[in-house]
Amino acid sequence: MASSKPAIWNEKLELPGHVRFMEGVGDLSMLNVISERSTAEIYLHGAHVTHFQRNNEPPLLFLSQVSQFADGKPIRGGIPVILPWFGPREGQPMHGFARTSNWDLKEIVPAKNGAIALRFRLEADETAGFPPFAADYLVTVGDTLELQLTVTNGSKDKELSFEECLHTYFHVGDIGATGITGLKGVSYLDKVDGFKQKTETADAIKVSSEVDRVYLDTTGAIEIHDARLQRKIVIGKQNSASTVVWNPWIAKAQQMSDFGDDEYLRMVCVESGNVGKNKITLAAGKSSSFSVTLSTTPLM
Ligand code: BG6
Repeated sequence: MASSKPAIWNEKLELPGHVRFMEGVGDLSMLNVISERSTAEIYLHGAHVTHFQRNNEPPLLFLSQVSQFADGKPIRGGIPVILPWFGPREGQPMHGFARTSNWDLKEIVPAKNGAIALRFRLEADETAGFPPFAADYLVTVGDTLELQLTVTNGSKDKELSFEECLHTYFHVGDIGATGITGLKGVSYLDKVDGFKQKTETADAIKVSSEVDRVYLDTTGAIEIHDARLQRKIVIGKQNSASTVVWNPWIAKAQQMSDFGDDEYLRMVCVESGNVGKNKITLAAGKSSSFSVTLSTTPLM
């Protein structure tokens, strides 16, 4: 009988007791990861981390109860990898094709302090006006969740200009009791106000209506203070100059078929990357990386 497992299913890469291939929702291939201090789930579809949870803590990531899990469709929640463009692009899917492509799992390596590192790769042919490129995504599941995205221009003679973003959906206990710090004084494009350029004035950003802001030229760490879960999430970044903050709020939540009407109350997206004027340009054959470390501490 023919195996129903996809070709990308490579059991040789399993790490007994720690990393197991499974059929996830929608029969999509998923990796279940158990490290000494946390658990995670990662789909090959989009190299999408849908779940990360430190032992004895609530989940870090929000995942919609009504997300689609299907070829060609993005997953709503977790960490979509946005590449090579952010936002709409004429005649092309929103937020690039990386989040709906099947990535290969290349290796699994035990890392320090009982963490487990998994490296995924996407090789893109010349497409949508982009020269060929490769993306390597290293996901380290441990006491923290570390994410590193490296893009290599595969062209022999053309520049590659691209945007990249780890569109992270955080789970919060109550959006009304949540504040986001680290962006005061930073200038941003307000997408809900006609892309007007503004400067952040709040010590702690509170979400009480639709928020969709692209903060530019900002490399510092961001914190999410969640008074309901009594948890502080720290987003440390390297080589990431942009941060996007998004919550669809009531009307947009109702319009989205893959997002529950009330789910806006328990999530906020704080996305790290290089978008808009912070986009990256690479000469032929060159690479660039950015990384994000997500950690949590009790809120004092
Ligand atoms: C955010 C954008 O990053 O993603 C928003 O700033 C967008 O404008 C949101 O609505 C969700 O996008 P999508 O394609 O996943 O529905």
